[in-house]
Amino acid sequence: MRNFLIAGNWKMNKGPASTRELLDNLTNEVTEAPDKVEILVCPPAISVTSALSAVEGTDIKVGVQHVSYEDDGALTGEISTGMVLETDATHVIVGHSERRQYFGETDATVNKRVKKILEDDLVPIICVGESLEQRQKDQHHRVVLNQIKAALNGLEADAVSSVVIAYEPVWAIGTGETATPEQAQEMHELIRDDLADKFGEEVSDSVQIVYGGSMKPHNAEELLSQTDVDGGLIGGASLKADSFSDIISVAAKLAG
Ligand code: 13P
Repeated sequence: MRNFLIAGNWKMNKGPASTRELLDNLTNEVTEAPDKVEILVCPPAISVTSALSAVEGTDIKVGVQHVSYEDDGALTGEISTGMVLETDATHVIVGHSERRQYFGETDATVNKRVKKILEDDLVPIICVGESLEQRQKDQHHRVVLNQIKAALNGLEADAVSSVVIAYEPVWAIGTGETATPEQAQEMHELIRDDLADKFGEEVSDSVQIVYGGSMKPHNAEELLSQTDVDGGLIGGASLKADSFSDIISVAAKLAG
């Protein structure tokens, strides 16, 4: 009953001109989202308007990779949800491990951002995931559930039903290592059960839980066929029109 979400996180790649070029190539291959599949690209903020103009008339949605939890003010380099709302962007990635690792993002700031994003009717894609060391010490379940608990702290069930959660094991990001389908399913199921306990079955059934970490055309099918894997947050493979559209085709086949 949930749609797949196939989302590209472009990270710090593609200015306005190269965004146009990539999306012109992508829209040569895909314009209509297949039934039960949502397509999203998240370029750098400077390229969002270029992306929106390139995908005009198609079903491809555009999101951003980060926002401030403040409305406005003396915060050099930041962008606000209000600015995002002046565009037609719909989603905001929050709590990505690269933000946690390099930019001081904490569970507390993730929570503030999630609240701000929901308040302004944008969709947060909340990233969680354990490090290799945490998995080796068998702490991965606790780490991920704690990150989710903190991110959703203070939210009502109704609000939780509109978030997206991205499980991104840190050891699989940009490394070519992927979680096995069993590892992904195990974690996604744990997350969904936890949501059901805290917010009820209806909410947990509706939340899209997507997988991120070296999802590629060759491994997309085994990951996306898992019951609780509702899509992908894709880095490297979203930077080429053909590999991204190949993953969309896999989702379309499985949804059909
Ligand atoms: P890769 O697909 O390049 O591993 O990146 C995953 C990711 O971090 C998506 O947010």
